[in-house]
Amino acid sequence: MNLILIGFMGAGKTTIGKYLASENHMNFIDTDELIEQNNSMLIKDIFKNYGEEYFRKLESEAIDKLVYAENTIISVGGGAVMFHNNMEKLRNIGCVIFLNTPIEQIFNNIKGSFRPLVGHSMDKEKTKSLYESRLSTYMKADIVVNTDNLSIAEISKTITEIVGVKPNL
Ligand code: S3P
Repeated sequence: MNLILIGFMGAGKTTIGKYLASENHMNFIDTDELIEQNNSMLIKDIFKNYGEEYFRKLESEAIDKLVYAENTIISVGGGAVMFHNNMEKLRNIGCVIFLNTPIEQIFNNIKGSFRPLVGHSMDKEKTKSLYESRLSTYMKADIVVNTDNLSIAEISKTITEIVGVKPNL
């Protein structure tokens, strides 16, 4: 079984994915990390040098390769499900889980870090409208997990209970 974590930047997809994988003896793949490794370049430099459209092509190609994943937690970049029919592709790879995080918490989580689409000094209005434009697509996930005020351990426990993960020892 594969579990795929989707959600906005700063929702905790990578952190929760790594935790879930180690707790349940599963593999972990983060599409952003995969793209960086395959291209020997940071995501921010891919955006800067080649633009978003090129990044989305690399992202979609990375997702295509995940059809071979087994017993894996997959964390995908926040915008992935908006392009190239990726949501459908991900649904065919595993159970898609939306980490539904309130926008105020997102602001807190991403402030001070650099993200190509929101820059260094996050523009709250721009970030919020990007979030809102994606919400209806995120909600098409197989499972929606509300992460507000929950610890990483609690979110992971909620997910394993809902999907009934059986550790593969
Ligand atoms: C993006 C989110 C980022 C990364 C890229 C674009 C987005 O990943 O893929 O900067 O469009 O929301 P995280 O969601 O892991 O920050």
